[in-house]
Amino acid sequence: MTNVEVLLGENRKFYPPKSLVENSNIKQWMDTHKITDLETLYKRSRDIEWFWGEVEKDLVEWYSPYGKILDDSNKPFYRWFTNAGYNIVHDALDRHMKTSIKDKIAYIFEMEDGRVTNITYSDLYKDVNKLANALKELGVGKGDRVAIYLPMIPALPTSMLACAKIGAVHSVVFSGFSAHALKDRIIDSGARTLITADGFWRKGKIINLKEQADEAVKGTGIENVIVYDWSHCDVPMRKRDTWCHDITTPQSTECETEIMDSSDPLFILYTSGTTGKPKGVEHVHGGYAVGVSQTLKWVFDLKPEDIWWCGADIGWITGHSYIVYAPLILGVTSVLYEGAPAYPEPNRIWEMIARHRVTVFYTSPTAIRMHMRFGDEWAKKDDMSSLRLLGSVGEPINPEAWMWYYINIGNSRCPIMDTWWQTETGCIIISPLPILPTKPGSAALPLPGFNAQVQDRDKNPVIDKGGDLVLTTPYPSMLCTLHNEPERYIEHYWDKSGMFICGDIARVDSEGYFWVQGRGDDVLNVSGHRIGNSEVESALVSHSYVSEAAVVGRPDDIKGESIAAFVVLKIGVEQSEGLKQELREHVAREIGKIARPEYLYFVNDLPKTRSGKIMRRVVRSAIITHDVGDLSTLANPEAVEEIEKALG
Ligand code: WTA
Repeated sequence: MTNVEVLLGENRKFYPPKSLVENSNIKQWMDTHKITDLETLYKRSRDIEWFWGEVEKDLVEWYSPYGKILDDSNKPFYRWFTNAGYNIVHDALDRHMKTSIKDKIAYIFEMEDGRVTNITYSDLYKDVNKLANALKELGVGKGDRVAIYLPMIPALPTSMLACAKIGAVHSVVFSGFSAHALKDRIIDSGARTLITADGFWRKGKIINLKEQADEAVKGTGIENVIVYDWSHCDVPMRKRDTWCHDITTPQSTECETEIMDSSDPLFILYTSGTTGKPKGVEHVHGGYAVGVSQTLKWVFDLKPEDIWWCGADIGWITGHSYIVYAPLILGVTSVLYEGAPAYPEPNRIWEMIARHRVTVFYTSPTAIRMHMRFGDEWAKKDDMSSLRLLGSVGEPINPEAWMWYYINIGNSRCPIMDTWWQTETGCIIISPLPILPTKPGSAALPLPGFNAQVQDRDKNPVIDKGGDLVLTTPYPSMLCTLHNEPERYIEHYWDKSGMFICGDIARVDSEGYFWVQGRGDDVLNVSGHRIGNSEVESALVSHSYVSEAAVVGRPDDIKGESIAAFVVLKIGVEQSEGLKQELREHVAREIGKIARPEYLYFVNDLPKTRSGKIMRRVVRSAIITHDVGDLSTLANPEAVEEIEKALG
C-alpha cells in the first residue's frame, strides 16, 4: 500500500467539530424527539411514514390537511400527503411576506463583470407576481407547460416560481443546450410558451441565446416567446415575441397563488437515459417541497444566518432543488452567480466566497479537480474562514480531490457532504450528515427516511462487493412519472420486487458506508452531466456522412469521463481531420457543447452481436482496460482489431 492509500484508506475517518454536532439542526430535532443516539435515529426512521409525517410539520404549510402520508395503492405511482391543498410557492415566497424574512436577501446575485444586486424575498415576491399575472394574461393556466431557456440570472428562478404560482408546469432547458435539444424538449412537453433572454455573458463575451431559441421554436407549438432584455444584444423580434418588461411593467405586484393538489406536477426536467430520447422526469408540488427542504436543512444544516452557495446551474436538478426551491422554503440567503467559474482569474469562486462570507458551499468533483490543476496557490489567496461546511455532488469524488478540497478550501475543519442523488430522486438520498464521521470518497449512509441497498445480479443484498444500487422504499420527493411515458417509467426504473433501480454501481463497506462507483448503464457522466451514449450516437448518425457510431466514456482526470466516439462513414466518404472536427461540431449543434466528443476515431466496422446490435461493452473494454475479454458472441471479431488500430 502506498502512503496515499494509507492516508485515504476506506477506514480513515474524519470527525466533525464538536460545536458543529452540538448546534446542528439534526441534533436539535433528535433532542425534541428524545432520540439520544444515531442508531436509534436511523432505526426509527425506517418507519418512513412516521418519519416524514414528523418532519413535514416543521417545513411546509398546507392550505388544507392531507389524508394519508403515503398512498401506495397504485405502485409505483406513489402519492405522498394525499389530497392536501398546496402550492410550493406558498412556502417559498408567500409565507415569508408575513415574517421578517420579507426584507431578508434571497439572492446575492453577482454578474460576471462583478456587479452585485441584492434581491430580497419581497423583491422576488413582487417580480414573481408580476410575471405570473402577465403569463395569465397570455392565457397560460393550471397544468399548461412552459419551457424556460434562461442563463443563471434572477429571471430564471423568477420564471420558475411564476409558473408554479399559477399552477403551470415549468420545463427548464439548460442554456448550454443547443437549439435542436431545446426543440425536442419543447415538442415532448407540449409547451406553448417559451421564456428566454436575448443573451448572456460567458467569459467576457455575449452568447446570443435568442438565436438558438428562434431556431428551436420553428415547427413546435410555441405561440408566445417572452424575452428578457438582459445582455442588450441585437435580436430580431418576431410577431410571437414579447419583451418581458413590456408585459410585466403594467402588472400588479400581487397575484393569488393557485391552490393545487399536493400531487399535481410542479415541473418536468429532461435527463438522459439509455435510449436516444431524453426522459421527462416529473416532480410534484407537495412531496418535492418536503424532500428538498428537509435534506437541505439536515445535510447542510442551514440556519437563518447562513450564506449558502450551490454552484450548480439551475438548468440541472441540483439548481432546481438547492438554488431555487429548498433555500427559499428555508428562508436562507443564497449566492447566485451568472458567469464562468474561473473567470477572469482561477480564484474567482474562492474570492467570491471570501467577499460574500459564504458559510456553506456546494460544488462538483469536476470543479474541484479543475481547481486542483490550477495549483494550490490559487486556493490560498483568499480567506476561507467564513466556511463551515462543504458539499460535493454529481459524480464520484476521488479521495485525492476530497482531500484537496478538505485541506485547501475547508482548512481541514469543514466536513464534506458527498451527496449522492439523481434528477429522479429530486433530493439528496445518500449522504453524510454534519454529525457523522466522513470517509473520503464515500457518500456515507442513506439519510434518515431513505433506504438503499446494493444488490448482486440475483437481487440479493451484498456487502463489500460491487453491485446495483437500488432504493428499497419510496420517499416524498421521488419522481411521480415520466412525462407522457408512464409505461417507460414503470419498465425503466422498477424491478419485479418493487425496488427502484438507480442505474449506478456501488459497494457498501462493512460499516454500511456506500461507495458509489458510477453509472452501470449506458449513460455517460461528463463533468457531472448525464449524457446518454445513444443520444450522442443518434446525433452522429444524423450527419449525412455517417453510417454507424459507438460512443463510450473514457476516464478523464478532470471531467471524470470524456466522450470517445467510433464512427463508421458511409461508403465513398473520405476520412479527414476536417471531417472529424465537423462531426464533433455537429454533435455540439445537435445536443450542446457538453456532448461534443473529445476523441473521435474513424473505423470501418464496429463490433456487433449476431443480431446486429453494436456492442459498446467491447468498445469500452478496448479503450479502458485494453482487454476485450470473451468475443465469442461477436459476429465480427475483426472489428475489434479496427478499434485497437484506431486507438493506436
Ligand atoms: C451520479 C445529479 C457518485 C450518479 C444530482 C447518478 C454521483 C447521477 C453522486 C445523477 C455522488 C450524483 N457520487 N455519483 N455523490 N451524485 N452522481 O440526474 O451516477 O444529473 O446516477 O443528478 O450522477 O445525475 P443527475
